[in-house]
Parts: sequence; C-alpha cells; structure tokens
Amino acid sequence: MGLLSIKNLRAGMVLEEDLTERMGRLLMPKGTVLTEKYIKICKMWGVVEAHIEGVAGNDINASALNDFNPAEIAIVSESVHKRFCHANMDHPAIKELIRLCILRMAEAKNICPDHLRQDSYLEEETTKRQKMKPVKANPLKFIGEHTKLSTLPDIYRQLIDAIAKPSSSTYDIENVISKDTNLSARLLKIVNSAFYGYPSQIDTLSRAVSIIGTRQLSTLAMGINIINIFSKIPSGIINMKMFWKHSVLCGICARILAGYKNIRNTERMFTAGLLHDIGRLVYYNYLPQESIDVFAKAKNSHQLLYLTERDVFDLDHARIGGHLLNIWQMPLSLEDMVCYHHEPQKSKNQMESSILHLADIMANVMSIGTSGERLIPPLNGEAWLRLGMTPNILSLTIEQADHQLEDVFKVIFADDKSQ
Ligand SMILES: [Fe+2]
Ligand SMILES: [Fe+2]
Repeated sequence: MGLLSIKNLRAGMVLEEDLTERMGRLLMPKGTVLTEKYIKICKMWGVVEAHIEGVAGNDINASALNDFNPAEIAIVSESVHKRFCHANMDHPAIKELIRLCILRMAEAKNICPDHLRQDSYLEEETTKRQKMKPVKANPLKFIGEHTKLSTLPDIYRQLIDAIAKPSSSTYDIENVISKDTNLSARLLKIVNSAFYGYPSQIDTLSRAVSIIGTRQLSTLAMGINIINIFSKIPSGIINMKMFWKHSVLCGICARILAGYKNIRNTERMFTAGLLHDIGRLVYYNYLPQESIDVFAKAKNSHQLLYLTERDVFDLDHARIGGHLLNIWQMPLSLEDMVCYHHEPQKSKNQMESSILHLADIMANVMSIGTSGERLIPPLNGEAWLRLGMTPNILSLTIEQADHQLEDVFKVIFADDKSQ
C-alpha cells in the first residue's frame, strides 16, 4: 500500500484510492494523475497523505535516513532510543517520532539538544548551592502565599470580568486590551506573525479582535500576562529562555494539531501549551534545593521527571499548574488540559487534553528548549486512538512548528531583557 505524506507527492503520480478532504468530501477520484496544481489544492484543503499507485510510503521515509553516514546514524539512534526508554517502541506514532528525532539530530539541527545544555547549567548551580540545606515544604503552601490573584495586574482582572459577561461586545474587549499599550502591541505583532500567516497587514486592535474573535484574543492576552509575571522571576534552576522555548513550541504544536481536528478556538490550545509546565516554575522558584534533588533522582534512576516530582513532593507540576490556573480564574477547560497533560485519560475534555499531551511529546522530540525533562514522556495509547490521526501528521506538524517558532518567540518576549 503506497500511503505517502503530502510532502512526498509529485506531479505524475497516480491516486490509488479516492482522495477526500478532512471532512470527508471527495476532492479527486481514484486514478487521477497528480499535477502541481492538484498538489497545491491538496495542501489548501489540509490533506495529510494520499494512496499512490506503485509506491511504498515507508521507503521514502527511510531514504531520508539513508542519506547519512550509517555509523553516525547508529550513534545518534542509540542516544535517541535512550530518551524513548519509557515509550512503547512498537507503536506506529512512536516509531515515526523516533525516526524524526534521529533525522533532526543527524541534520545537526540539534548538535547539542537543549535538555543536555540544561544539564551543564544545573551542574554550575548545584555547585553554588552545595552548602544550602533543603527545606521540607508543602508546594501548595507556596502557591497560597506567592501566587494570589491580587499579584496579577489590573488588566488581567478586567479581562476576566469582560470574558465572564456574556454581554461583552468586541468593543468592550478591545477597550480593556487597548489600555495596556505593550500588550496591544504584542497581540498585533502575533496576529501579523507567521503564526497566523495573514497575507495583508492587520494594523488595528479592532481588526485583530474581529478576525481572531473576542474570547480567543482575551485568552491569549491572559496567557501573555501570566508569562510576563513569571518571566520576571529569575530562576537559578532552569535556563528561562529554554523553559519558555519549550512552552511556546508546545503551544504552537497544540494549535497546529487542533487545526487538523477542526477544533475552533485554537488560541486556547496555544495558551494551554504556553502554560502547561508552569507548575514547574513554582518548584524551581520556591523550592530550589528540592528541585535539584528531583533532577538528580530522575537522572540517576532514568525516571520521568513528573513521576519523580510525585515521589518527592506528592504532587507533580501538572497538578500544581492546574491549581494555579484555578486561582487565576482561567477558563476551566484550560485548567483541565494543563492538569492532565501527562494523563489525558483523566481529563473531562479528553480530545483537547490528548492534543496537549501529544504536543508536549512533540516539543520534547524537537529538542528545542526544555522544562527540565531529559526523557521523552510516553505517549498514551488511548489518547492517540482518540485523536484518530495518522503518523504522517507528525512530520507535517514539526515542519510547520519549526517555521513558526522563532517568529512567535521573538514577538512574545520582544522587550523582555531576561530572554
Ligand atoms: Fe509537563
Ligand atoms: Fe512540557
């Protein structure tokens, strides 16, 4: 069976089966000879793959690896397989993620992946802190003391009020956002970035609100407000630039994947990605010595970081993050997604949590930025089935995310000197 990714379709190939768009509508019948124009139409309709006569899809995927020196691929492959040690290696999506991870490293996009850079950063910090004693503390106590809603700026509370009122108009939301010139400028830059890819310049907030939608833009604005606060807290435990890169990348992947599932309000998915590991910053900032212990335990026992957090703190960062979003009155769907991004089967909205779960794994596979995890979190098999996706979506999503990351990251952290 010649199932090929859209990237590998070429003019002259012949469709082996009818080709439909995402909603099931027929685009081209079986037997159609592809032309450049037809391939462009497939891309416009979000087609991910097509059955092609006389070609084996896997052959083309494998050939990408065959372009490299086998000895080098063997070394890279060994280190990648170690990072996937908690994954089901026989799962088709995992097989594809491993292939993509090896390919990225072989292409030298990640000569030194950020999770390894974080290792040396941490070593320096550990030496500095050797004389400090860990303080046994309950993480929830720190949440109560340091992260009250009152610590967030006025504009944040005004946005909560505006969203809560069903009668809020586009004008009301625009009015709240426009009071903060820095936030307005950032939102306009995001709307004009590769993230949206609009062909013409959107130069007023009112146009941005009407195109993106009031609630969508408000959720994004609230997320940016939260990361603003946290990005100003220096953490010696993690390189903050790497932390936010991982978060932005997860948000971008979540938004792209949500688009494949025709989920509306993809900005909420982006914001969920931005905030998914925020619970870790509570640990890193308020319990630094214990966090160093967690890193060391996880590394020495090859255990996943979130499971080690449970051993040491009784609670993992996902629960802490969900709790924070609850205190900050973020939409319940966001709180739920963040809380269960490592266990989407426990979520109330399993489709969206499964998307965030996969997006986090993909951000780890891409190895740009890190929130501290050295291994690839395992893929929940039920979540993958629920998504109903094909492994070909993974490489397409990574390619799109690569294209958007630098642009979106620069815009969100535009005037933040700590980044
Ligand atoms: Fe996480
Ligand atoms: Fe993460």
